[in-house]
Amino acid sequence: MEVGGLVTANPVWVGSSELTMTLDGITACVDAGAGAVVAKSVNESVAARLQLDIADYAFVSGAGEVRPPGSGLPGDGLLNRSGLAQVELDDWLAVLADGVSYGAARGCPVVGSITLGDPAAAARIARAMTEVVPAVELNIGAPHGREARAVRQLTEVDGVAAAVRVVREAVDVPLFVKLPGQASDVVALARAARSAGADAVGLVGRYPGFLPDLDGGAVLGSWGAWSSPGCLPMSLYWVSKAFSALDAPLIGTNGARTVDDVLRFLASGARAVEVVTALWIGGPPVLRELVDGVSGVSEDFVGSALAGAREYADVPPLPSPAWLPYTARWRSSGR
Ligand SMILES: Cc1cc2nc3c(=O)[nH]c(=O)nc-3n(C[C@H](O)[C@H](O)[C@H](O)COP(=O)(O)O)c2cc1C
Repeated sequence: MEVGGLVTANPVWVGSSELTMTLDGITACVDAGAGAVVAKSVNESVAARLQLDIADYAFVSGAGEVRPPGSGLPGDGLLNRSGLAQVELDDWLAVLADGVSYGAARGCPVVGSITLGDPAAAARIARAMTEVVPAVELNIGAPHGREARAVRQLTEVDGVAAAVRVVREAVDVPLFVKLPGQASDVVALARAARSAGADAVGLVGRYPGFLPDLDGGAVLGSWGAWSSPGCLPMSLYWVSKAFSALDAPLIGTNGARTVDDVLRFLASGARAVEVVTALWIGGPPVLRELVDGVSGVSEDFVGSALAGAREYADVPPLPSPAWLPYTARWRSSGR
């Protein structure tokens, strides 16, 4: 499958996270069969790196039970703080170069990633990365941008267009732009990113989260970024809307845990899916399962669900009121 100028053997990509922050992490993802691996983000900010010192992770079951790092179970949500890779750019480029050649020998592109701080600095870093990587992803959707000044989350069309344009001018390899889901019109952000030169658009970044521990405090002792299986339909909303409205290759992310979830991203219009939390919980076997589960899916499948989705105005009346069983049960249980 080709995505914005990058050819990958399968649509299951490993998204950027601490799992791809070392050469060992990157090569483990390649060995487990990833279609592509997005390396951990860097930027120019010392503060963004220092933030990794306060990184923390809490897995939350569907029933609200909070589990410590390392003990997440399938289906859990993840609330976390994170920071960027604690490495100088030259050293990071050396890691990327090794990862890229390891991946290239096995048919798996390794993509460089920048989480936006200052756009001009992002452009300089992106330019340097193009010496070693086949594509660059620019993350302008990090929910941490709401809590930490070292990274930025852009939610306005003009800001998105300006930042993407600056980075686009600096790079001559495919440029992917990962957007936030917290904007009144994410499709407009995707259109702006595409018009400013993004070869593919990533939809959507995680959401900000907050969870009281009911013990007088808050889980993690702060706000954080939240991912959970429940985020899937919210991500697919924007993927499907962008697929309908734009002529832009889309990369889905946020909420894919199972083979069916990946298929739903593809059916909504994504050409590839970046997975992270499921791999934190289940490790390489989960990645292998996802890759095996989507083998044989054809390009025609991308966006196929849209054929069965209508505007509200075009939905015909249902034969009997769908709310009736619920209101009937409510009335009878109230007696
Ligand atoms: C611990 C953690 C660290 C992350 N770090 C980055 C990052 O540095 N850059 C980035 O673009 N996305 C980062 N992400 C976001 C993921 O790449 C991915 O888009 C997100 O987790 C949604 O996918 P998921 O539901 O499969 O986890 C991170 C996610 C997690 C859970």
